[in-house]
Amino acid sequence: MTAELDRNRALWTIVNHRYTDAAARSMWDRDGVRWGLFGASESRLATLPDLAGLTVVELGAGTAFFSAALARAGAHPIAVDLSQEQLATAQRCQQETGIVFPLIQADAQAVPLHDACVDLVVSEHGASVWCDPDLWVAQAARILRPAGRLVFLVNSVLSTLCVPDSGPASQTLQRPHADLGRMVFDGVEYHPSHGDWIAILGKHGFSVLALHELTAGEDAQDPEFYDIADYRWASRWPAEDLWVAQLS
Ligand SMILES: C[S@@+](CC[C@H](N)C(=O)[O-])C[C@H]1O[C@@H](n2cnc3c(N)ncnc32)[C@H](O)[C@@H]1O
Repeated sequence: MTAELDRNRALWTIVNHRYTDAAARSMWDRDGVRWGLFGASESRLATLPDLAGLTVVELGAGTAFFSAALARAGAHPIAVDLSQEQLATAQRCQQETGIVFPLIQADAQAVPLHDACVDLVVSEHGASVWCDPDLWVAQAARILRPAGRLVFLVNSVLSTLCVPDSGPASQTLQRPHADLGRMVFDGVEYHPSHGDWIAILGKHGFSVLALHELTAGEDAQDPEFYDIADYRWASRWPAEDLWVAQLS
């Protein structure tokens, strides 16, 4: 596990220096709460409860632009990420915008927060992709209050089956369904099947409320640097899966 964390931490140092540090401020300045590569609007999807006054933890927050949007909507976010560089960018954006909330450098598979202390856990291509689902979902269940909600975004199962070893999704299946799960690209990623997600969520006490299979809208553009799918592919097939679950 330590080797895996080191590998992913090193990858995110490089990604921060090449792309995310430069892009962070415009992401912080986006209007509303938006999900994923093509900015799907939360106001249309309605996956989150009323955010006013809620304590929210984002696991694998990166430069914390998603948490910033939650803060603007009235929530009290706490952003957790493994990468010192990603959190340094988040801190710079906090200083520039005046939107300030706690930033915690930690592994989302061992979150340094008390049991039952938050109302909502979110992850937008964070722990949801980069951590062992059995471990980070267990952490989400532990820190959520009873009936708390978990909402997370991941690469769709279909895009994962269609991405070649590098580059965006093709129109051809690239691997067998049985290869889903722990996968090694530049870093170590986790892409469970839909059935596996339902089993993992159930094991940790969650009921699935919804699965939104996100496609790109008509006015979408190609993502700046994430190689999951271009907008042409994503306008025909879902590039991302957005899961909504609640502690039962
Ligand atoms: C794609 S970014 C997610 C942030 C943002 N929503 C985005 O889409 O850019 C993935 C983040 O997961 C973080 N990460 C990877 N492994 C992690 C771990 N074990 N614990 C916490 N964060 C982790 C990385 O440092 C990186 O900042």
